[in-house]
Amino acid sequence: MARQWKAAVVGTGVVGGWHVGMIPRIPNCSLVAVCDTSPEKAHACLEKNQVTGVPVYEDLAEMLGKADVDVIHLCTPSGAHCDPAVACLEAGKNVICEKPMEIQLDRIDKMVATSKRTGSRLAGIFQNRWSDANRAIKAAADEGRFGKFAWAGCFTPWYRPDKYYEEGGWRGTWKLDGGGAIMNQSVHAIDLLQWIVGPVKSVSAYASSRIHPKIEVEDTASAALEFENGAYGTIMGTTAMFPGMPARIEVGGENGTAVSENGLKFFKFRDERASDAELQERLAQGRTKSAGGAGSADIGMDLHARNIMHILSAWEEGRDAETAGAEARKAVAIILAIYESARKNGAAVRVA
Ligand SMILES: NC(=O)c1ccc[n+]([C@@H]2O[C@H](COP(=O)([O-])OP(=O)(O)OC[C@H]3O[C@@H](n4cnc5c(N)ncnc54)[C@H](O)[C@@H]3O)[C@@H](O)[C@H]2O)c1
Repeated sequence: MARQWKAAVVGTGVVGGWHVGMIPRIPNCSLVAVCDTSPEKAHACLEKNQVTGVPVYEDLAEMLGKADVDVIHLCTPSGAHCDPAVACLEAGKNVICEKPMEIQLDRIDKMVATSKRTGSRLAGIFQNRWSDANRAIKAAADEGRFGKFAWAGCFTPWYRPDKYYEEGGWRGTWKLDGGGAIMNQSVHAIDLLQWIVGPVKSVSAYASSRIHPKIEVEDTASAALEFENGAYGTIMGTTAMFPGMPARIEVGGENGTAVSENGLKFFKFRDERASDAELQERLAQGRTKSAGGAGSADIGMDLHARNIMHILSAWEEGRDAETAGAEARKAVAIILAIYESARKNGAAVRVA
């Protein structure tokens, strides 16, 4: 029988609210505490999700001392993941951390090292790895069905209004968001790209804010890539394309091409199988309209639930999850290389 997990959510804003709503619906999980530096937000979040009898903490150390909890869902701003994660891991708690794992590699390394030293587990959320369409493309890549990759790209043509950046205060800042459209929004598609095609060797990029004059960071970026396997690629990401369209992943080469765009849009191989057409028909449509393109409210929670259930099952089996810290680091390394290249006016930068 599956182990029962006692979970707490730290950071009860937009995404923390999803976790609060989701945890009680995962069969072997219960929500035992929530923590937010703004307790009013935590109370409002519990009320909105019709959760009663769960204590609210304003101070993480107090919660770690008092609550009987074994997994922390960390949903604080992106540049405020490291300190709470390290505190939780040091206190013997396992951590599920929202994307991006952190906004600087040394902080991710610290989180990973603390997890290794303490034996408490650390895993990231990259829920799009659990979409059936993306998993079908990954399986084809692992089987070698594409042959030699020629080119692979990811496109995140999203839109966020000024209000999105004004709310919360941390969005669109280097200090706590760590970047803009690329670090916050495109990180999902960038993770999928490197997961399917393999490590990115170098990038050459441009980035700036086109329509959001008040933010410090980019709302639009475009990068040319070279993968370690020799293929070329493209990353584009924006929050400046009204009204926002679904993200798209496109990979192909010698023996096949596949496209995922809120569903499996193209899936053709030289070694055609009867199951390919069936798969494409079954997975053609995604479940939400813009799949996040027009706003966070349109992201949907089912993939999050799958991601979390996978993490807990892996831990129950005594192994790290697929999105363990070192794996969640890879997309951030690519993103930081994109920023460095953009600062150098498009000069090629090697991914760390
Ligand atoms: N997986 C996804 O699709 C997805 C979507 C959106 C956001 N996110 C990620 O989720 C995280 C949170 O984003 P959000 O949009 O929910 O932000 P938000 O501003 O809505 O919520 C953040 C909450 O954290 C609280 N907080 C800040 N510092 C804290 C601390 N040290 N201890 C406890 N609480 C603290 C704030 O008071 C706030 O309530 C970010 O890392 C973001 O990138 C993931």
